[in-house]
Formats: sequence, structure tokens, C-alpha cells
Amino acid sequence: MAEPLRLLVVCLGNICRSPMAEGALRHRLAEAGLEHAVAVDSAGTGGWHVGEPPDRRAIATAARHGVDLRPLRGRQLHRDDYTRFDWLLCADLQNLADVRARRPPGATAQIALLTDWAGVMTGDGAIPDPYTGGDDHFEEVWAVVDAAALGAVRRLGGR
Ligand code: 4NP
Repeated sequence: MAEPLRLLVVCLGNICRSPMAEGALRHRLAEAGLEHAVAVDSAGTGGWHVGEPPDRRAIATAARHGVDLRPLRGRQLHRDDYTRFDWLLCADLQNLADVRARRPPGATAQIALLTDWAGVMTGDGAIPDPYTGGDDHFEEVWAVVDAAALGAVRRLGGR
């Protein structure tokens, strides 16, 4: 069997947007029979929440959509990620700038906005940070990451 395509979703804290995207991607890829063709992980550019589970609002929102984020743990973007993954898919334009700025020599991963990569249109081409917002912000994030997950299935030729 061919090597899986390796995707890393990157946001700031790795407790809201990127774990939600990771969960949505896993869910939609599995639904399409692509779970063995694609490996998905997530990380944050910041290190404040390393080792922590996702934000309880992210867990609750994903659970309403049938996705369990409780086993996930925060981790920080590492230089090895630039060679271990095929794509570093960023939640917003600041994450994109940070991921590009930290690109080490010899990096092989391609770097993009998750929404662009997945062919999803959003207001400013990005997923807004819900951390200081209300529960409705988390539902909005879910709508975007789930659309991106469906876009990923289209892009990767799901059954
Ligand atoms: P995320 O949200 O980048 O979607 O995980 C945030 C989580 C935590 C912080 C910022 C954004 N923080 O500053 O701790």
C-alpha cells in the first residue's frame, strides 16, 4: 500500500481550531474510506497548552457532531514537522506567517491555509480564533473545519 499523505493542521494554541479540524478531517476521511490513505495530526505555534486536552468548548462542539476530541493532547510545532508532513495547513494568516517564518533549511512540507488547500471560501480566507469568544464561535469554527474536511475528501478523491 502507498505511503499515506501526511497532513498537519496548525493553529496558535492547538486546543481549539486545529484539534477541531483534526477531528473533522479524520471523521470525514473515514466516512469516505480514506482513513488509511491520509494521516492527520495537529500542532500549535505556541507552547502554552502542551500536553493539555482540547478546550472544553471545542470538545463539546465536536461531540455534538459525533466526533470525540477527548484523546487529543496539545503539542507545539517542531522543526521535524517540516519534513515529517507533506502539508502544514494553517488556520489563519498569522499562523501561516509564523509557520513560514520558522521554516528550517531542508524543509520539504508544503505550507498553505487549510481553507485554501481544501477549496473553502471564508470571509478573509481564514478560520477566526474562537478562544476568547462564545460557544457560537465554536459552532462557526466547526462549520468551516467540517467544510474543509469535505473539501479534503473531494481533493483526495474519496469514494
Ligand atoms: P487555537 O485557540 O489557536 O484555536 O487553539 C487558542 C487557544 C489558546 C490561546 C490562543 C488561541 N492562548 O493564547 O492560550
